[in-house]
Amino acid sequence: MGWRGILGFDFGIVQAPLGPDISGPELVAAVANSGCLGFLRAPDWEAPDHLRELIRKTRTLTDKPFGVGVVLAFPHAENIKAILDEKVAVLQVYWGECSQDLVLQAHRAGVKIVPQVGSFDEAKKVVDVGVDGIIVQGVEAGGHIIGREGLITLLPRVVDLVRDRNIPVIAGGGIVDERGYVAALALGAQGIVLGTRFVATDESYAHPTYKKKLVDLERTAYTDVFGRARWPGAPHRVLETPFFQEWRNLPSDENESNQPVIGYSTIHGVEKEVRRFAGTVPNATTTGDIESMAMYASAGVGLINEIIPASEVIKRLVEGAQSLINKQFAA
Ligand SMILES: Cc1cc2nc3c(=O)[nH]c(=O)nc-3n(C[C@H](O)[C@H](O)[C@H](O)COP(=O)(O)O)c2cc1C
Repeated sequence: MGWRGILGFDFGIVQAPLGPDISGPELVAAVANSGCLGFLRAPDWEAPDHLRELIRKTRTLTDKPFGVGVVLAFPHAENIKAILDEKVAVLQVYWGECSQDLVLQAHRAGVKIVPQVGSFDEAKKVVDVGVDGIIVQGVEAGGHIIGREGLITLLPRVVDLVRDRNIPVIAGGGIVDERGYVAALALGAQGIVLGTRFVATDESYAHPTYKKKLVDLERTAYTDVFGRARWPGAPHRVLETPFFQEWRNLPSDENESNQPVIGYSTIHGVEKEVRRFAGTVPNATTTGDIESMAMYASAGVGLINEIIPASEVIKRLVEGAQSLINKQFAA
């Protein structure tokens, strides 16, 4: 049955790590307290002490297990050491090599390791180094997108790849409600990962204007307009805000490095300038021209109609999937 758990959690629902700090302790604890796997997001720079604080703060809000996500494209050795020292339940990695050594380090610390991949070839590589689960990201996903393939074609191939290996496959990209959940199960996934749906919750650390736009707007675009200097060659899916529509054809030699400062954000305890075309979404501390900042969003954003608690997102997914399967697919 589709609402069974994965990796020791009650339910097969995962809240993606949401950079740079949108999935903070409040969101992750709310997800953990609902029986699901939530991921904090490690800073994009070495900040092991701050990361330990985030993990410990989360532990004051829940006694359930949770995980941390690390983007391997940025400095991370000290952060990973802190995560393993703290023995969180699961380490999620993305955008970089999930090496055998990293898997061994995690396992020695008693931490499960689950990479997010965007292609069949990448899936093959991580299966061979002994990961504990695979997150398959379709091109429908909000945020950065590592592959080019749609979930409906990529997912069953990865499911077939691991058929005899007892590695759970978790599907992400465009899943917002119980229909997406059941569709992913039909394609062979054991779990689902949602990013954008969890940005639009009470507990996420996103700026209220960003949350409101996720409810109000319906269209997204696959683009490379934002964050070209800091994270080159990293396409992403964003909301088609009026700002994005005006600048969607930004010449390829332009990037955020020589643009005006349009606001300020405190990110993981550090105050940062936000330049026009920066790849950082507005968080709860951001001031300035919020409407002109990047707003990552799922191709499924048109299905998000209200900001609700994370526990309610999970309740609707679990009960909705149960009822959908019983009513429409049971014999
Ligand atoms: C605001 C935002 C930030 C994200 N940050 C990260 C991140 O730091 N690391 C990561 O692995 N994935 C990140 N993702 C992508 C998610 O892991 C996931 O693939 C995606 O959200 C799933 O698609 P969905 O948005 O349609 O649910 C982010 C997504 C969003 C919307």
